[in-house]
Amino acid sequence: MKIFVIGGDGFCGWPTSLHLSDAGHDVTILDNLSRRQIDVLLEVQSLTPIAPLSTRLETWQKKTKKKIGFEFIDLANDYDKLRELLLKYKPDAIVHFAEQRAAPYSMKTPTTKRYTVNNNVNGTHNLLCALTETGLDTHIVHLGTMGVYGYGWSGSAPIPEGYLEVKVDTPEGEISREILHPANPGSVYHMTKTLDQLMFAFYTKNDNIRVTDLHQGIVWGTQTPQTELDEKLINRFDYDGDYGTVLNRFLMQAAIGYPLTVHGSGGQTRAFIHIRDTVRCIELAILNPPKKGEKPRIFNQVTETYRVKDLAKLISEKTHVPVDHLPNPRKEADENDLVVENDQFLALGLNPTTLSQGLLDEVQEITMKYVSRVDKSKIPASSQWTAAKEPAAAKTKK
Ligand SMILES: NC(=O)c1ccc[n+]([C@@H]2O[C@H](COP(=O)([O-])OP(=O)(O)OC[C@H]3O[C@@H](n4cnc5c(N)ncnc54)[C@H](O)[C@@H]3O)[C@@H](O)[C@H]2O)c1
Repeated sequence: MKIFVIGGDGFCGWPTSLHLSDAGHDVTILDNLSRRQIDVLLEVQSLTPIAPLSTRLETWQKKTKKKIGFEFIDLANDYDKLRELLLKYKPDAIVHFAEQRAAPYSMKTPTTKRYTVNNNVNGTHNLLCALTETGLDTHIVHLGTMGVYGYGWSGSAPIPEGYLEVKVDTPEGEISREILHPANPGSVYHMTKTLDQLMFAFYTKNDNIRVTDLHQGIVWGTQTPQTELDEKLINRFDYDGDYGTVLNRFLMQAAIGYPLTVHGSGGQTRAFIHIRDTVRCIELAILNPPKKGEKPRIFNQVTETYRVKDLAKLISEKTHVPVDHLPNPRKEADENDLVVENDQFLALGLNPTTLSQGLLDEVQEITMKYVSRVDKSKIPASSQWTAAKEPAAAKTKK
């Protein structure tokens, strides 16, 4: 298949591009390299030494004799170029990763809030609008997030895959309806993902665009069999207070003996998936597209759930690095249950990678190898959800 990977230079996009190319698909990456620019602005770098994109692509071709194309484009602002690229390549599928994806970054300042909304909402809308204008029957596979459901909204009831069955009283009696699961975003970033959902619902209904929306959990791990082929293909690894996600961040903190920073009680339950399963799920979604006229197909792209404090305990026992509880910069419940349905991917043949000792060891090896690249001053979370709270960074022990 001819596939565009928009955001193909990022943490999920790069290993996905390699996985799809390895599987024989004709892949073109579209990216504006904004994630690398944000690193420059935040004065931080990936823990792993990521090569420039042209070096990555040359190395892939040398190692595998397979070519991945690249087009520089800002999805949120270069509408005419997007339309031209669509007409030139006529892709069968488009994987859409191209969004500002850090909740803390989205809450940092009025500028980052507005950037996140402009970038994410315009990017998704441009894609839907351009497919409608060009009349192409391309399947969009979009990366959403488990955060659209919010946490704890339904107590211990399982979170369904996108849609909720509701009963409505009418003068003629009770009727049942399937509605988009109520949105309950916890940050400006999550809010943009809930707006994406509405745009997908509209364009599938009005213009028969085919969309699969993957509500992904927190991705951990860093390498896939393809990124391991050469150091120049290595995936990025974010550890800073804005982009570093829990578990990868704990493993890096353990590697340098830095207390594992748990925000609040650590009773928050989150959903996880290993990067190797991310790339497999995306391929499964591409190979199983919805029909024209079908409502957005929504999958929960999740394999496990854990409480943050249990993850910290696990890593602490393994590494003997203590846990440090800090004030929570987020406005959220101290504790929540999270039970997630993920039957659709299991039915399509996903064999989940679980949080095993072996995989933790693998991430730890990476963190130990590149430990000299860590800037400890970048570890504490500095973004605040509300102005009134004391910055978590102020209390962090170094
Ligand atoms: N990483 C996770 O744990 C996680 C969890 C759930 C969902 N997701 C979703 O998966 C997607 C990818 O996440 P990631 O971790 O790879 O993020 P990332 O920031 O590493 O990658 C995003 C890529 O998109 C590019 N990009 C951003 N805006 C663009 C624009 N306007 N035009 C062109 N390119 C643009 C960036 O340069 C970058 O290469 C995001 O939509 C994110 O919300 C990620």
